[in-house]
Amino acid sequence: MDLSQPPARQPNDAYVQQGLQQLLAARGVGPQLFDGTLANYLRRIHVAKMLALWEAFRLVQDLPGSVVELGVFKGQSLLLFAKFMELVNPNDRSCSVIGFDNFRGFTQLREEDGGQDLRVDKRAGGWSSQGFYDELKAHIHLFDHDRLAGHKPRIKLVEGDIMDSVPRYVADHPGTCIRMLNLDCDLYEPTLVGLQHLYPLVVPGGVILLDEFAFNEFPGETRAVRDYFGERMPRIRKFPFYSNPGGYIIKE
Ligand SMILES: C[S@@+](CC[C@H](N)C(=O)[O-])C[C@H]1O[C@@H](n2cnc3c(N)ncnc32)[C@H](O)[C@@H]1O
Repeated sequence: MDLSQPPARQPNDAYVQQGLQQLLAARGVGPQLFDGTLANYLRRIHVAKMLALWEAFRLVQDLPGSVVELGVFKGQSLLLFAKFMELVNPNDRSCSVIGFDNFRGFTQLREEDGGQDLRVDKRAGGWSSQGFYDELKAHIHLFDHDRLAGHKPRIKLVEGDIMDSVPRYVADHPGTCIRMLNLDCDLYEPTLVGLQHLYPLVVPGGVILLDEFAFNEFPGETRAVRDYFGERMPRIRKFPFYSNPGGYIIKE
């Protein structure tokens, strides 16, 4: 696969299929996965995760602005949001999916995050996707070849520590409007900085997903939400069929 090959205006089925097969082969999986069995390999919880993100996306499908994600990891939610956007808003070129991550995992735990917990990889350097970065780029490349007007970017990755990259991005892009903010970096500091800089940019009716809200394993995320809103805590809702996101807000 040649990542420098620019996408055409129309999807290129054969190229995408071949590229995905290459990625699967590198993981020791044969092309038979595409013979009509792909969904059989998804567990109930995988389907639930996709449906929760879909339900959230449906709430904002007719709002202006982009989807912004803090915490990309290997790109599952980022690519799902981009695919939803491409399905629902294919002709709207004003919106994109912007993902922030250092791709090196948690920088440091603060007191608010509770102690290290290896069962959920909560430690400095936990949830690193460093070794997956090239594969993520390949998936974004294939996504661009699999959609209309693939030559116009739909996904932006902003690499770096959220503590710096988010305030810098906001200063450099004063026109940013957000229809959905997915807070999925699990920890106190980046969640609080995300709320401080990005919540004001969420349009009325926009949705803020709080992936680990009310999770005992990651108390820092709930604490950041409490510290940011204080006594003006908005109503926090929940999709009843799955644990994540732990809560979500519809901004009034
Ligand atoms: C739980 S994962 C995100 C999962 C992803 N949304 C998905 O659907 O698979 C958390 C991510 O937050 C990132 N992260 C946490 N703190 C960060 C920080 N201060 N700066 C940049 N990225 C950070 C980690 O690198 C990790 O990739």
